[in-house]
Amino acid sequence: MSLLITNVGELVTNDRTLGDNSQLGLLTDAALVITDGKVAWVGAADKAPDADERLDAAGRAAIPGFVDSHTHLVFGGDRAAEFAARMAGEPYTGGGIRTTVAATRAATDETLRASVGRLRREALRQGTTTIEIKSGYGLTVADETRSLRLAGEVTTETTFLGAHVVPAEFADRPDDYVAEVCGPMLTAAAAYSKWVDVFCERGAFDVEQARAVLTAGMAAGLLPRVHANQLAAGGGVRLAVEVGAASADHCTHLSRADVDALAASSTVATLLPGAEFSTRSPYPPARRLLNAGATVALASDCNPGSSYTSSMPFCVALAVREMRLTPAEALWAATAGGAKALRRDDVGHLGVGARADVALLDAPSYLHLAYRPGVPLITSVLHDGVPS
Ligand code: NIG
Ligand code: FE
Repeated sequence: MSLLITNVGELVTNDRTLGDNSQLGLLTDAALVITDGKVAWVGAADKAPDADERLDAAGRAAIPGFVDSHTHLVFGGDRAAEFAARMAGEPYTGGGIRTTVAATRAATDETLRASVGRLRREALRQGTTTIEIKSGYGLTVADETRSLRLAGEVTTETTFLGAHVVPAEFADRPDDYVAEVCGPMLTAAAAYSKWVDVFCERGAFDVEQARAVLTAGMAAGLLPRVHANQLAAGGGVRLAVEVGAASADHCTHLSRADVDALAASSTVATLLPGAEFSTRSPYPPARRLLNAGATVALASDCNPGSSYTSSMPFCVALAVREMRLTPAEALWAATAGGAKALRRDDVGHLGVGARADVALLDAPSYLHLAYRPGVPLITSVLHDGVPS
């Protein structure tokens, strides 16, 4: 079964060998053919081969589906009151994580499953076709395993974040909690996880504890990624580079050495501007990273505390307005950059052979994603070649 999408006014492929040969591989008056869930042909609309079915994009722009490489979708309750207090002047410290841990532990499987499903559909409607989901609001063997099992029902990109914070019952013996994470919790969680992550930050886990968690996770076959340098400068980014992490996430407070280390490595700097927006923090130094040659990704960080948005178009708009990415850099970071942060080469682009994840915009150009913030521009989404 093949599908021809034709009359695409502007097609972003993220394939430099195509179209204008820019990073976005931009074609105008384009078409693509999808066969068995994959891109089989891409080029000028007037040269397109026939297919079994035809979809007329009516001059709209089409982009690769967003790759949201950092979310925390499995949680109970919300923290709207904490947000309101923050907007009235309270600082964000991460202390509210324990509130969500209590609500998550108290929730039934059905409640959590319904909530994850709702958020996953919400993200898909906004063009997110690949999504990473972390645990981290359970913090017991049973609750972390449950979170990862539920995450695994909607994505293959699951991340064990047992080392999110030290839970209240371990407050006076954090090293015992690290031993719990590296021991029985990891053993139970590993079967449901692709990645291991740790919140390396004052008030959460120091570099030594974080290294222990990542090393244990890697020994269990998981791939490392790190929450690094969100609230203050510290050793998180350099630890991520040291262990060969796929990504260092947040990167809000970076020293020169951090930027240089990222630029010289294959570790992606994943920026989460929804968190700075919602916590009224300074935005990460994206231009310094790009100018130094680091690979930058954009992700939503969707969670009930620091960034309760599932909208990648919103993150693109923030990156352009607040971090001075060009619209092209921002769109690339939210698609191909996210794919690199997940070490995936089948998504985040629309070259021949890519998974047919396509978002059609109710706009003539991808520029409108940042130009028209807050407007629901995603009109239709194909996931694996299937309209959703
Ligand atoms: O990525 N930084 C740690 N974890 C989340 C926030 C979690 C929360 O506040 O509930 C983050 O921003
Ligand atoms: Fe996070």
